[in-house]
Amino acid sequence: MNHQIHCQYFSQEDLLGAGCLDMTMAMEAAESAMLAYRDGRVLFPEKIVQIFNDDTQERINCLPATFVDEKICGVKWVSVFPPNPTRHGIQNLSAVIILSEIEHGFPVAFMEGTLCSNLRVGAMGGIAAKHLAREDAEVIGFIGAGEQAKMHLIAMKTARPSLRRCRVAAKTAGEEEGFVREMAPILPDMEIAGTGTDLAAAATGADIVVTATSAQAPLLKPEWVKPGALYSHIGGWEDDYGVARQSDKIVCDDWDTVKHRTQTLSRMYRDGELHDDDIHCNLVDLISGDKPGRQDPEERTYFNAVGLAYADVGIAHAMYRRAREAGMGQDLKIQNEMIFEHAHLKDWVRL
Ligand SMILES: NC(=O)c1ccc[n+]([C@@H]2O[C@H](COP(=O)([O-])OP(=O)(O)OC[C@H]3O[C@@H](n4cnc5c(N)ncnc54)[C@H](O)[C@@H]3O)[C@@H](O)[C@H]2O)c1
Repeated sequence: MNHQIHCQYFSQEDLLGAGCLDMTMAMEAAESAMLAYRDGRVLFPEKIVQIFNDDTQERINCLPATFVDEKICGVKWVSVFPPNPTRHGIQNLSAVIILSEIEHGFPVAFMEGTLCSNLRVGAMGGIAAKHLAREDAEVIGFIGAGEQAKMHLIAMKTARPSLRRCRVAAKTAGEEEGFVREMAPILPDMEIAGTGTDLAAAATGADIVVTATSAQAPLLKPEWVKPGALYSHIGGWEDDYGVARQSDKIVCDDWDTVKHRTQTLSRMYRDGELHDDDIHCNLVDLISGDKPGRQDPEERTYFNAVGLAYADVGIAHAMYRRAREAGMGQDLKIQNEMIFEHAHLKDWVRL
């Protein structure tokens, strides 16, 4: 009997080459993941967190989830090392993902996971924009020019193809230049420009404002957010409490999770400045149509996601299917036969 176990290995380049940097695919996978979770069709245990430095929050987290109907179980093993960019000039976040089938419990894929993880962050913002941004949005402003900001620009452009101009402010003008250099060829119909670290110039008058920074400070001021704007908050503490206070609708990926974390809305909740009934709804309620999205062109809307790892597994599964269909990846033999079937086992055993 054949007791071989194989899975497919996909590098980031395999996934990119197969067309997996596809925000529409990621948004659809995240939407169906959220609906499946709401319907009790996702097993989603607590994540496991190992923090190696309390000051810098350098950590590795283990985030599993199972989609019962698709019969797929996955885990994201994600490293977050915030000092990496400034200390070593390398990325903060890196991840790998394992997918297993649940008929025999064998792994089917081992894949690079940073692309999937960043796609998920962008996809959540893109889904929010579909429901909460003005349909005629033309100008988008970024505070922060890192990896999440770049993916968010693709997500927002996917959700609102009417976007024509992008302004970006970061801690250094060099980072803004890097953002423009990398994003301009991908979005040739957009005018993308740095602001010389002028945060107000990036946000003021924009139809969509995004903060994606490693700062822990109230960078975004309420007076910069115009009526009719969507604000998408990605990092930790990034905006003045007044931004949420003046918003007509506040939507989260999951408010019960958000309120126990450390970003601005969580701080406001702890400080008694924000209550459960100030939250319009969770993102899934907009997807299902149970709650309305934007109802007035002058509404200010506020979206905050902390990350629902089952959405990562849902997106990873979609990426795996696409990459496999494209014939990408390499066969990874996990075992040829069972342990005691090996003819030469007696030569290998150490007693
Ligand atoms: N919500 C989620 O699901 C989710 C997922 C992943 C990452 N994040 C968070 O998103 C944030 C951004 O992550 P990243 O990977 O893009 O980080 P990054 O290190 O690549 O980029 C951070 C950016 O913040 C900018 N910045 C820092 N301080 C600033 C200041 N005072 N003024 C202006 N700009 C400033 C930097 O210039 C840089 O452009 C982090 O806080 C990260 O923890 C959130």
